[in-house]
Amino acid sequence: MPDRVDLPKTQFDRSYFDAGETRPGYFSTYSWDNYGQEARTTADLLFRWFSPRTVLDVGCAKGFLLRAIKDKGSAVQGVDISKYALSCADQEVRQRTFLLDVNREKLPFVDRTFDLVTCFGTVEFLTNYDHAVMEMARVLKDRGILVIKTAYRRADATDPRLICHRRGWWIQYFRSRDFEYLKAQSDELRGELLRVMAESVVNRGCTWRAKIGRHVYGLGYVGRKIAARLRSDAAMVVLVLRKNGSR
Ligand SMILES: C[S@@+](CC[C@H](N)C(=O)[O-])C[C@H]1O[C@@H](n2cnc3c(N)ncnc32)[C@H](O)[C@@H]1O
Repeated sequence: MPDRVDLPKTQFDRSYFDAGETRPGYFSTYSWDNYGQEARTTADLLFRWFSPRTVLDVGCAKGFLLRAIKDKGSAVQGVDISKYALSCADQEVRQRTFLLDVNREKLPFVDRTFDLVTCFGTVEFLTNYDHAVMEMARVLKDRGILVIKTAYRRADATDPRLICHRRGWWIQYFRSRDFEYLKAQSDELRGELLRVMAESVVNRGCTWRAKIGRHVYGLGYVGRKIAARLRSDAAMVVLVLRKNGSR
């Protein structure tokens, strides 16, 4: 294990997930009501394509994706660095999670354990994503599936995300690590996620308006906030990858 400890730039505590205000790169209210539909949509597609029996979610936060996948009958595990987020997970999901830093720690599983590994909105925060990806590849079965969602652009200078690359860069990166890029599935998942996010952002427009504070803002302002959030969601790379290996 390296002796250098990489502390995340962001503290993934309540103020990151549930501050109730909109800041680029942060959640405002990270609840099942707001994000459950994204999790269900993702689980539906992944099951339609791959029917995984064993699934690991890296950066699982409050376990929303794990919950959606578990409801379909798979055995799930999750890891995250945030004590706060894991403490908010459903009890059943929480029992299947580990608190750890994927920048430097080994995943607590033997080689070739999982049919599917997911890592959503997390690699962009990692100072040592090479180590994390090597670990994800190690615990994935040969021909197993890795699904990555990440940002290719920071919204502005206050955005805490560190690592932003475009889709082509990531495709080359994963090819050099012996992954095959599944384009049709990647495009479909990205399209579906954008659709669900757009719906939920529009539905949350009124809540945001109330939370903007003491000031009364016109609909035009709220509309611009929604448009800004949608633009930042659109800066999203989705990669569905298959690990090569013995057949
Ligand atoms: C933007 S959130 C994404 C949460 C969830 N995957 C989703 O898509 O809704 C990023 C997550 O990565 C976790 N994370 C960040 N750095 C980490 C690290 N070094 N090791 C493990 N988890 C980390 C955070 O605690 C947080 O839960």
